[in-house]
Amino acid sequence: MALWHFMTAGESHGPGLVGIVDGVPAGVPVTSDIVNQDLARRQKGYGRGGRMAIEKDQVEFFGGVRHGKTMGSPVALLVKNRDFVNWQESMDPGEGKADRVITRPRPGHADLVGGIKYQHRDLRNVLERASARETTMRVALGAVARSFLRELGVEVRGHVISIGDVRAPYQDYTLEQIVAAETSPVRTVDPSTETAMTAAIDRAKEDGDTLGGVFEIKAFGLPVGLGSYAQWNRRLEGQLAQSLLSIPAMKAVEVGTGMAQADVPGSEVHDAIWWEKAQGFTRLSNRAGGIEGGITTGMPMVVRVAMKPLSTLLSPLGSYDIETKEPFLAQVERSDVTAVPAAVVVGEAMVLHVLANAILEKFGGDSLSEIAQRIRAWDRYVREY
Ligand SMILES: Cc1cc2nc3c(=O)[nH]c(=O)nc-3n(C[C@H](O)[C@H](O)[C@H](O)COP(=O)(O)O)c2cc1C
Repeated sequence: MALWHFMTAGESHGPGLVGIVDGVPAGVPVTSDIVNQDLARRQKGYGRGGRMAIEKDQVEFFGGVRHGKTMGSPVALLVKNRDFVNWQESMDPGEGKADRVITRPRPGHADLVGGIKYQHRDLRNVLERASARETTMRVALGAVARSFLRELGVEVRGHVISIGDVRAPYQDYTLEQIVAAETSPVRTVDPSTETAMTAAIDRAKEDGDTLGGVFEIKAFGLPVGLGSYAQWNRRLEGQLAQSLLSIPAMKAVEVGTGMAQADVPGSEVHDAIWWEKAQGFTRLSNRAGGIEGGITTGMPMVVRVAMKPLSTLLSPLGSYDIETKEPFLAQVERSDVTAVPAAVVVGEAMVLHVLANAILEKFGGDSLSEIAQRIRAWDRYVREY
C-alpha cells in the first residue's frame, strides 16, 4: 500500500462527501482557507452553469488537524452537498421514497454498464457515485498534499492547452505564467487563445454540443530521485498515468513531449546532459518532462491530459429504456459545455497525491521538519555528485 493513501465516499445528491488521507506527516499547515481555495478553483470556468451556482463547497474537519497543523494522524474531511435538502427522501438510507428512479441510460456515462455490473434496476444508484462530483473530495484532500509539498519548495500548477480544436501555442511556461492563468475564465495562459476558446464554447452551446480539451500540469522544485526503475509499479510516469486516467472523462496522458516523440528521430527527443560546478548535473532541454527511467531528474515535471467532451448533450443521442426496451433520445434541458478548466484542478490534486507519496517513499519521516532536513541534505549531495 502507498505510504500516502486516500479514499473518498459519498454520492452526488447524498448528504455530502467524506475523505480520509493517511500518511500525512505532522506539522503541515492545513486550514479551511487552504482547502476552500482549491475547492473554489475547481468550481470556476467558462462553459459551466447550474450546479456550480448551487454548491459553494466548504470543508469541515473531522480529524488529523489541530490549531492549523496536521498531527501525524489520518486527516478526515467532509464537504456537505448543499443541494441535499431537496433530495433527503430520495437519497434516504432508510425507507425514504422510491422516486426519481432512472431507467434510461445516458450514452457516454457509466449508467448502463454500472447497472448491469451491480444489478441495479434504478440507474440512479450508478450515476450518484460515478458522477464527477466525487472529484471534489480528491481536490480537498489534494490541498493537504499541496500544503505539504509547498513547505518543501514544490509547486504543482496546471493550465488549459486546448478546448475543442482551439489550441494555445506551445511554450515552456514558467510557474508565474501558469499561476497568472488563474484569472482567465478558461484557465489558459495566452490571451488571444482565451478569446478563441470562449468563442468556441459559445458556438458549441448554440449547437447544443459539448467540448473536451487538453490541459498541462507542471511540478516545479522537485528533488532528483523520486520514483524508481527497479520495479514496474514504482515508475513515476506509470503512477501519474493511473492517477490522472482515474479522473472521469480523461482519455489520454502524455509525459514531456509525449505522443509527438514517436514522429521524430531520437536526436530531436532526448535531452543532452550538462554539468557545472555550481549546480551539478542538469539537462539542456526538457523533452522528457522531468522523468527519466521512472525517476525525477530535477527538471520541471510535465504531464498533459486529454479530456473527452462532456457526455450530457443538448442535442440527443440514441439509447434504450432498460425496462420498456423502447428507444428514446437522451435529451436534457440544460448541460454544461465544457469542464476542462475545472478538470485542471482535479488533475493537480491527483499529481499532488502521487508526488506526496513519492516524497514519503524517498525520504520517510514522521514530521515535516524531519523530511525538510533530509531533503536539504539530499539536495546538497546531488549538487556535489
Ligand atoms: C470536473 C468534471 C466535471 C464534469 N462535469 C460533467 C458534466 O457536467 N456533464 C457530463 O456529462 N459529464 C461531466 N463530467 C464527465 C463525466 O463524469 C464522465 O464522462 C462520466 O462519468 C463517464 O466516465 P468516463 O468518461 O471516464 O467513461 C465531468 C468530469 C469532470 C472531471
